[in-house]
Amino acid sequence: MKIDMKKGNLERFVTPAAAVFLFEGEEPAGSAALLDRASGGLVTELLKAGDFKARLHATALLYTGKALPARRLILVGLGKRKEVTLDRIRGAFAAAAREARRLDAKDLAASTDIGLPEEKPERIVAAAVEGVLLGLYRYLPYKTVDREEFRDLQSFTIMEADGARGKAIRKAAAEAEAVSRAVCFTRDLVSAPGNEMTPDRMAKEAKKMAAGRKLAVKVFGEPDLRKLGMNALLGVARGSNEPPRLIAVEYRGGKRGAAPVVLVGKGITFDSGGISLKPAENMGEMKEDMAGGAAVLGVLQAVADIALPLNVVGLVPAVENLPDGKAYKPGDVLTTFSGQTVEIMSTDAEGRLILADALSYARKRYRPAALIDMATLTGACVVALGDLGTGLFGKDADLNARIRAAAAETGELVWEMPLWEEYVELIKSDVADWKNTGGRSGGAITAALFLKQFAGEGPWAHLDIAGASWLKKDRPWTPKGASGIGVRLLVEVLKRWSAPA
Ligand code: BES
Ligand code: MN
Ligand code: ZN
Repeated sequence: MKIDMKKGNLERFVTPAAAVFLFEGEEPAGSAALLDRASGGLVTELLKAGDFKARLHATALLYTGKALPARRLILVGLGKRKEVTLDRIRGAFAAAAREARRLDAKDLAASTDIGLPEEKPERIVAAAVEGVLLGLYRYLPYKTVDREEFRDLQSFTIMEADGARGKAIRKAAAEAEAVSRAVCFTRDLVSAPGNEMTPDRMAKEAKKMAAGRKLAVKVFGEPDLRKLGMNALLGVARGSNEPPRLIAVEYRGGKRGAAPVVLVGKGITFDSGGISLKPAENMGEMKEDMAGGAAVLGVLQAVADIALPLNVVGLVPAVENLPDGKAYKPGDVLTTFSGQTVEIMSTDAEGRLILADALSYARKRYRPAALIDMATLTGACVVALGDLGTGLFGKDADLNARIRAAAAETGELVWEMPLWEEYVELIKSDVADWKNTGGRSGGAITAALFLKQFAGEGPWAHLDIAGASWLKKDRPWTPKGASGIGVRLLVEVLKRWSAPA
């Protein structure tokens, strides 16, 4: 879909559909008031009849006849003015776009003037572009029947009457578009079935994504991994016929030699649990166990597209976890890249093993300014924070504060969790240095404490996205399924990192 910026007035623009926004219990404001006046009161008439209350994300449709150049007018509720947030605005634009698509309108036009003069138009335009692109997302490659039912909006036009603002608004729109496309790229990778999205396919997708961008990709195959001594990663891979990969994507937008921020993402392309087999029910959902890795690839795409002045590296250990005669087993001991040994208690605690190797490799190879990993790591985190929450673990107060501040901006629900040293004993092994599980209680914490042993010295944070990576229900600008969680969050962290203080 095309995002277009035009200088001019929405009430004079010829389009199949224009969207205007209204607050609950108020007269039309901003572009809604302008279109109302230009049309001789179409909007106030609807409000007066009591047919539209401007409840949050509710829509109403008007056919304008000869009253306006826009053929249809889509009214979207913003709810109560004093409760409005940027996230709600994002959702309102998503609602408008979905309505336009349902009507098979090919273009949707709107103005940045939604009747909220205290908010910067750059932020509104970003929310608008994100809402439209993210709210319209669908995963259709495997739909072969009734394809004509899947209509597409072809363009979204943003009208700005004030020419002086044009440049700033254009930049904000272009950035929001780049980041939204990266989120959709991540959603595509996560939505893809496990038989397609194998470790090797993930590596190929990374290369394809990097081609034509200022990104360098290096893919380590089995022999490389053996030479490096990544035996935890290789141990998990043994039960599958799909060969493992370690994908490294490097972006050098900063000073030569400046320490990069390194992002590590769990890339289990399917998690059956291995010999510690998961129950059959809903096992298919575990194709999403590479959501952290997919988000890391999405972040690198976005960072390159918006040309951040910063060095960033993405590392994705990609492995399939299956049971087999060759598979690793409970009771096995693996020697990790760091030299530390791990006794396997459950082959279903595989994510922390591949991350252990990737994290210590990241520390040694890149000497990062900050190391952040993202993983669908534990069901325990879902129990603690629910289906939408992301757990944040880390001892570096500055890095945690940066992540929380970014989350407040992007609307992602991130909650800081403890890394209590008192629980380290739960992962101490009798025969090896560590056990790969610490029991049921505090499972998200002991998993994070395990990672901590391999993250080395220096700022490190871990994000457990097991809940938020896959939505069971539609949300305002995120259709159910792969959410792309973490992409906007980490892009925001990196944007602030690179901004002059
Ligand atoms: N990939 C799962 C965690 C998960 C659960 C992701 C639900 C998304 C939704 C992970 O590999 C796993 O199996 N974790 C185990 C750990 C346990 C064996 C210590 C879990 O959470 O049960
Ligand atoms: Mn598992
Ligand atoms: Zn897993």
